[in-house]
Amino acid sequence: MLVCTRSAGIIQPFMRNIVILISGSGSNMAAIVRAAQQGRWTERLNAQVAAVLSNRAEAEGLAFAKDHGIPTQVLDHKTFASREDFDAALMAEIDRHAPDLVVLAGFMRILTPGFVAHYAGRLLNVHPSLLPAFPGLNTHQRAIDAGCRFAGATVHQVTVDLDHGPILAQAVVPVLPGDTADILAARVLTQEHLIFPHAVAQFLA
Ligand code: GAR
Repeated sequence: MLVCTRSAGIIQPFMRNIVILISGSGSNMAAIVRAAQQGRWTERLNAQVAAVLSNRAEAEGLAFAKDHGIPTQVLDHKTFASREDFDAALMAEIDRHAPDLVVLAGFMRILTPGFVAHYAGRLLNVHPSLLPAFPGLNTHQRAIDAGCRFAGATVHQVTVDLDHGPILAQAVVPVLPGDTADILAARVLTQEHLIFPHAVAQFLA
């Protein structure tokens, strides 16, 4: 169903809202914001980044979002008694923006089943490994320790099984002799910046 509003005599479909969750540097969020601007998502996809939320006040990505005129909000998980309480408050904050899509861009929290169910089918994540290999943390060191010749990143839909939802996009990079976890992470991150915005745009299209 297409719902329309009338503005200045022109029929316009309602804008679709993307809410992005971050915990740190927010470089994937920034890549999505830049792609939205350069790819004119507002006109082409009828979609906009409506808000950026963080569970950490120190998250560097918040400044980028503010500089780009995107509303930001911090919800510190440490101030909540339980994971369920935090996720309930986070859902309330996200839902203020009537999201069509919720994007986890380096959001370093394990989500409750209730949260995942609430956004079923409209919740995407980027993970720094070639899933289903290396779900969870320390993916780059684990790939090096396992002797992998290739590593990479995965964009997937989020389900209750941690880092196991349907895969939307992957990028592969070589693991090179002498790589440290940090060097490999930086190589993978450049690819995340390419596949994540692309996967979000494809999802919206
Ligand atoms: C990215 O590498 C992302 O894949 C990873 O955190 C980094 C965030 O970077 N996410 C996870 O590990 C989630 N399990 P960013 O804040 O610069 O986008």
